[in-house]
Amino acid sequence: MDKEKRIVLTGFMGVGKSTVARFLASLLKCEKIDLDAFTEQAERRTIAEIIHTEGEAHYRKIETENLRRVLSNNKAQIIALGGGAWTIEENRRLIKEQNFTTVWLESSFEHCWRNIRLSKRERPLAANKQQALRLFDERQRFYCLADWHFIIKPDLSSFEIARKIAEEIFSMKFN
Ligand code: S3P
Repeated sequence: MDKEKRIVLTGFMGVGKSTVARFLASLLKCEKIDLDAFTEQAERRTIAEIIHTEGEAHYRKIETENLRRVLSNNKAQIIALGGGAWTIEENRRLIKEQNFTTVWLESSFEHCWRNIRLSKRERPLAANKQQALRLFDERQRFYCLADWHFIIKPDLSSFEIARKIAEEIFSMKFN
């Protein structure tokens, strides 16, 4: 098993990055960091509050600063990004510099949208379906740049996705 590999999960809002990261960390018995949660803790306010009060451009600067801090924490082997982080060139450069393997959780827009709607978390950049769909389409070309692409079928649970990643990327064996 390739225990040394460190991975970053990316993909659109609602695809399940945080949950998959949690299961993956428990399968690999390693530490994970969720960039959104880390940012909210560091800033002592929610991402929605930051975006509403200071705008998206300022939020992206805060996000990059926190990504830098998360990447330099050598204990975290799995990092779940927020859906927009990988679309920023500087963030991709920082992630590559630290030799992380990037994994795109790829799924249909409808799947993500259903989860966005069901979730209690406010996502200011996906306030309505039209806005979310436009972002989804614009971002495919960035997500495509990830090292691995995992197609998320709606019938797969987050645990099953984490298991597949553990098998394929970390060569873990399950019976
Ligand atoms: C964003 C995604 C969110 C959060 C912020 C912006 C985006 O994270 O970082 O609301 O631009 O796609 P999730 O992907 O975890 O929802």
